[in-house]
Amino acid sequence: MSSPLSIFLVVQPGLEPILEAEARDKGFEVIGSTKGGVTLRGGWPDVWRANTDLRGATRVLVRLAEFPAVHLAQLDKRARKLPWRDWLTADCPIRVDATCRKSKIYHHRAAAERVARAAGDAVGATIDRDATLTLKVRIEENLCTISLDTSGEALHKRNHKVQVNKAPMRETLAALFLHAAGFDGSEPVYDPMCGSGTFPIEAAEIACGLQPGRSRRFSFENFASFDRGAFVQNNIAAREKQPHFYGSDRDTGAIAMSKMNADRAGVAHLACFDAKPISDAVPPCDRPGLVIVNAPYGGRIGNKKPLYGLYASFGQVMRARFGGWRVALITSDAGLAKTTGLSFAAPGPQIDHGGIRIRLWQTAPI
Ligand SMILES: C[S@@+](CC[C@H](N)C(=O)[O-])C[C@H]1O[C@@H](n2cnc3c(N)ncnc32)[C@H](O)[C@@H]1O
Repeated sequence: MSSPLSIFLVVQPGLEPILEAEARDKGFEVIGSTKGGVTLRGGWPDVWRANTDLRGATRVLVRLAEFPAVHLAQLDKRARKLPWRDWLTADCPIRVDATCRKSKIYHHRAAAERVARAAGDAVGATIDRDATLTLKVRIEENLCTISLDTSGEALHKRNHKVQVNKAPMRETLAALFLHAAGFDGSEPVYDPMCGSGTFPIEAAEIACGLQPGRSRRFSFENFASFDRGAFVQNNIAAREKQPHFYGSDRDTGAIAMSKMNADRAGVAHLACFDAKPISDAVPPCDRPGLVIVNAPYGGRIGNKKPLYGLYASFGQVMRARFGGWRVALITSDAGLAKTTGLSFAAPGPQIDHGGIRIRLWQTAPI
């Protein structure tokens, strides 16, 4: 039996514990977390399943080797000793990305080139800057780590969203925020500023147990270790009878996108969308559940001043009409969160979202 792999799940710093919990729930052997990642142990089938089944991981890397390297000749020599044929094939071009930090090897392009040549020569593959199969070389304090990116395109690209509105939430982040807000798949979810529908669609998929990676391709399909016969990628959903995932937005174009995206994701029968401003929002069903929203937050779309009125109106609507619902608000600005007048618990950690630091603010049932 081949020795177990060290599998590294990349995640937005601050959300490691949530991804760790998801990985444990889904039966992976979790070794621990570091900033920006969760480490698992397993075999190649675990790598494939981490890509297809985990909702919160940004990408999945396999650690191939770790060794000290203080000069390029040493890096070259060590890289040439690696069993590249176990991982790569001649017919799949490779690209190498390298970073160097606090190390004697400081020229990242030269480091990338050495590893690329070692791997390319070993298997007869070409080196191509546009290749999807990527090796990642990190040299930090003279310790070189070489990893293989097994995902290819980042995992939030589930290949269902055909249309996006302004400032969409990435699916991976939406899944982690839903989890952090206590969503377990069983309660209604409503996003009254839903944009392209990310939260209701992600919640509906979670509720019926759909594989997030059921409709896309992955880099690992090009690896020497890949066995298509043993790879499970399916579109099987549990029967969810209740359409209890809802979104509304004042922008009719956004609502059209949400409907299209829900249809592509195969959850159109579970998610209802309608066009209306926040001032007209009412509970979409009798059973209270979770309101989750990332309202506009100035830094990315527009300017902050008019947003105080919007947040105040959101808070007023929640307090007046949404008794029994929990509210989860994602915003970059504590002042805007306070403007809602909602009783939030201490906010979650700051998360980088396209250069803006956002946090999750949550209430108990109102
Ligand atoms: C940051 S975007 C939400 C993105 C969404 N979560 C997604 O993933 O696509 C904010 C949304 O709030 C909507 N919005 C702004 N003001 C609104 C209002 N007064 N009533 C309802 N929706 C509003 C915008 O049209 C926009 O789609």
